[in-house]
Amino acid sequence: MQKKTRVLFVCLGNICRSPLAEAIFKHKIKERKLENFFEAESCGTANYHIGETPDPRTIRNALKNGITINHLGRQLCTADFDEFDYIYVMDKSNHANALRLAKENQHTKVIMMRAFDTIGKGEDVPDPWSGGEEGFQEVFKILDRSMDQLVNKLSEGLTLARQVL
Ligand code: 4NP
Repeated sequence: MQKKTRVLFVCLGNICRSPLAEAIFKHKIKERKLENFFEAESCGTANYHIGETPDPRTIRNALKNGITINHLGRQLCTADFDEFDYIYVMDKSNHANALRLAKENQHTKVIMMRAFDTIGKGEDVPDPWSGGEEGFQEVFKILDRSMDQLVNKLSEGLTLARQVL
């Protein structure tokens, strides 16, 4: 069988944005019956929340939108740049921090999460951590919308391969 494409979602703390991105990605991949082709994880550039479950507001908001999150926090490390094909970062600061850990020839793997967003293309996914509940819903909407585009892009490459399976 073809090797699965490995996708990593990265934010700062790995308790708000990136675990939600991972869960939304997995949900959309399952809906499209593409589980044999992709796998995903998430992590944070910081070490603040290693081993912790996501922020309760993230879990609650995701459930409200029909998404279940199962994750324990972990930190981005140099091996991730060898093990993953694409590394989607939530904001410019994550982008700069990720590049610091990557080898020169791995820099192109690091992509802004909203690179393909239909609104606010290339902008940051705002950090909801220090704000109110409404910020979590805003992050959900942004991730849900940009993830549709991202999954479209990733699966474009599969179209031909799947025809010969
Ligand atoms: P995240 O949000 O990067 O979306 O997980 C944050 C969570 C925790 C902290 C910062 C951002 N913190 O400073 O602990």
